[in-house]
Amino acid sequence: MSAEETLILVKPDGVARGLTGEILRRIEAKGYTLVDLRLVDADRELLAAHYAEHEGKPFYEPLIEFMSSGPTVAIRAAGERVIEGFRSLAGTTDPTTAAPGTIRGDLGRDWGLKVQQNLVHGSDSPESAERELALWFA
Ligand code: PPS
Repeated sequence: MSAEETLILVKPDGVARGLTGEILRRIEAKGYTLVDLRLVDADRELLAAHYAEHEGKPFYEPLIEFMSSGPTVAIRAAGERVIEGFRSLAGTTDPTTAAPGTIRGDLGRDWGLKVQQNLVHGSDSPESAERELALWFA
């Protein structure tokens, strides 16, 4: 079976807080391979394409604004079942209640802002991974 690939993002809060190294360490410690990595100042066009399925939801505009607020580290990672595995490493969406031991659970919290700053993104399916990797590594 050939290794699966996923898109992982260290969101602007993770980069600003100096957590990129710690997040990369956890990905590598789990045994996944870093295939490609780049620092991206995501513009609205890229973010609108990336989050197209969420357009119209109440968190959409704050999320786009937050994701434009600073650089993001985009990572192409590979390994058997890496999509599922990284989402498990990341923890659930809300960092306040994400399980200890996960990236969001250990390193994230609510900062009292209207937007959820939850440090990382991971593709949720092989179809999303293919689409998102094409956007961020165009
Ligand atoms: S949904 O509606 O169930 O599909 O939402 P969910 O899968 O939990 O989240 C989809 C993406 O939106 C982000 N999100 C938020 N960002 C900021 N503020 C709020 N309140 C918020 N709620 C959800 C969530 O982190 C997902 O983005 P990614 O980049 O995949 O983490």
